[in-house]
Amino acid sequence: MKTYLAGIGTSVPPKILDNAYFETIIDTSDEWIRTRSGIRERHVVEGTTATSDLALDASRKALAQANIEPKDIEAIIVATATPDMYFPSTACVLQNKLGARNIMSFDIAAGCTGFLYAVGVVDTFIKSGYDNVLMLGAECLTKITDYTDRSSCFLFGDAAGAVVFKKTEEDRGILSSYFASDGSYGDLLNMPAGGSLRPASHETVDQHLHTIRMLGNEVFKVAVRAMGESALKALERANVAPEQVDLLVPHQANIRIIEATAKRLHIPMDKVAVNIDRYGNTSAASIPLALDEAIQKGRVKQGDLVLMVAFGAGFTWSGVLMRL
Ligand code: ACO
Repeated sequence: MKTYLAGIGTSVPPKILDNAYFETIIDTSDEWIRTRSGIRERHVVEGTTATSDLALDASRKALAQANIEPKDIEAIIVATATPDMYFPSTACVLQNKLGARNIMSFDIAAGCTGFLYAVGVVDTFIKSGYDNVLMLGAECLTKITDYTDRSSCFLFGDAAGAVVFKKTEEDRGILSSYFASDGSYGDLLNMPAGGSLRPASHETVDQHLHTIRMLGNEVFKVAVRAMGESALKALERANVAPEQVDLLVPHQANIRIIEATAKRLHIPMDKVAVNIDRYGNTSAASIPLALDEAIQKGRVKQGDLVLMVAFGAGFTWSGVLMRL
């Protein structure tokens, strides 16, 4: 018995910020942002739009594709670093908005690797008897972006990606997975305040501690290594060679990290899903966003081998191999 993707849907807010906007607020250039990160523009939420709003829109699309009503959902898992609030979980907020009742709902915090960690949890649930699990990577990263920090503010965008996983006896679905973390890197990428260590105060607000802090080039080095390692471990566990992969779907953090990962695996870039140019880094939402686009464009179809790899705050990293 396997866990297979029965439906997928995504949501991005309509407002777009292009690189020219950042030239007006920080000392940068469109050329620098494009060559150092691969990003041209990103979608951003406005006003009171929250992560659960994007999640709701994406969920409805995924449920429609899977031909499932909210009443049929057995569990909701939301991977996010930007929940609507600390509690209740965004999964519970979403459960209420969808009108799904009497089910388990909870969030997962694993930074940009959150979507793949959630896939791993769902796989375990499905193998233990669940069916019809709705899971998401959903983020409003721009709500925790420090727009005075020139080294990171241009990177982030907002999006949600929802997937319905079901069980099947067919030869498709999740074939293998690999998960890792190393908390000793925690200080390289974090949001320092707002938790029990440093609760919100005038001081933490004045010091911009409720926003993303990142030592970009340190993160970069570990990301390149960890993404490659994750991919190779997932492939090895399924006894699949890199050349058999039909599409590599990497977390979209930086085009240079994506290219380095593809190079290490000897996978040509025409077999790699890339949309960072249009969405930036949407953290836990980036893999479903790139996968949905690839499916819609006909780049992959049922039966194809899809390798997903991610890296994020924690640090956490993961690789998941799936037959569509
Ligand atoms: N515009 C112009 N110049 C800039 C800017 C900017 N916006 N920001 C920094 N610079 C300068 C620096 O000051 C530095 O100048 P110097 O050489 O004179 O000192 C130079 O550009 C190079 O800076 P680096 O930080 O070394 O730039 P790098 O090539 O590493 O690119 C980037 C920065 C794009 C942030 C990259 O490090 C990166 O993508 N890191 C990884 C991000 C990532 O993977 N995150 C993980 C997931 S995110 C999450 O979990 C939410």
